Amino acid sequence: MNGAIFFSGQYGSTAQYADWIGEATGLPVFDVKDANADPSKYDFLILGSSVIVYKLTIRKWVKRNLASIENKPIILFTVSGASSGPKLDGWIADSLPESLVSQMEHVALRGRLNLKDLSWWLRLVLIIGAWKNDDPKARKEEMEGFDFMDKSGIEPIPKLVQQFQSSKTSPSQQVDPAQSQRPAAV
Ligand SMILES: Cc1cc2nc3c(=O)[nH]c(=O)nc-3n(C[C@H](O)[C@H](O)[C@H](O)COP(=O)(O)O)c2cc1C
Repeated sequence: MNGAIFFSGQYGSTAQYADWIGEATGLPVFDVKDANADPSKYDFLILGSSVIVYKLTIRKWVKRNLASIENKPIILFTVSGASSGPKLDGWIADSLPESLVSQMEHVALRGRLNLKDLSWWLRLVLIIGAWKNDDPKARKEEMEGFDFMDKSGIEPIPKLVQQFQSSKTSPSQQVDPAQSQRPAAV
């Protein structure tokens, strides 16, 4: 089985994780803005997406390419300020088709926010988001920026790739009667 990494990000942290995953797996890396990013050529996919204002930035590309990705094994890695948990799961569910979410593996990675990179109106968006955030730690991060980049976070991904390559189906597509109701792994 041959696979590839397709990512969507704006400020470099998702691209950095995609490159680290490319190095660790030997798979090609494509920015979804690249016209040559054609998922139909691959048997399995690693999709990487930043989260901006509670949505996955890869969602429109996924919608456009749904026909060529929906029946393939998929690993999704998200890059966000928030860590894994119900909030992030909800944003994924709001951004991607349910049929895709239920069949994919998910690895949550935390990114970087450098306020100096942002236009004044995006900073305003973040200030408004911070006002609405009831978690004081997350509110401080939105107001001051953060750097949670951590290469070791990608470790589950090469292992999942090995499983894909040694079997014909994704681990979440292999039905275990005892666990068939479990949500996608995080
Ligand atoms: C305008 C803006 C909105 C953001 N909204 C969210 C959000 O809703 N939830 C979250 O967890 N992180 C949010 N973030 C943090 C980004 O997910 C984080 O900075 C990520 O590393 C960006 O990826 P990139 O460097 O590939 O663009 C936001 C960042 C920006 C600049």
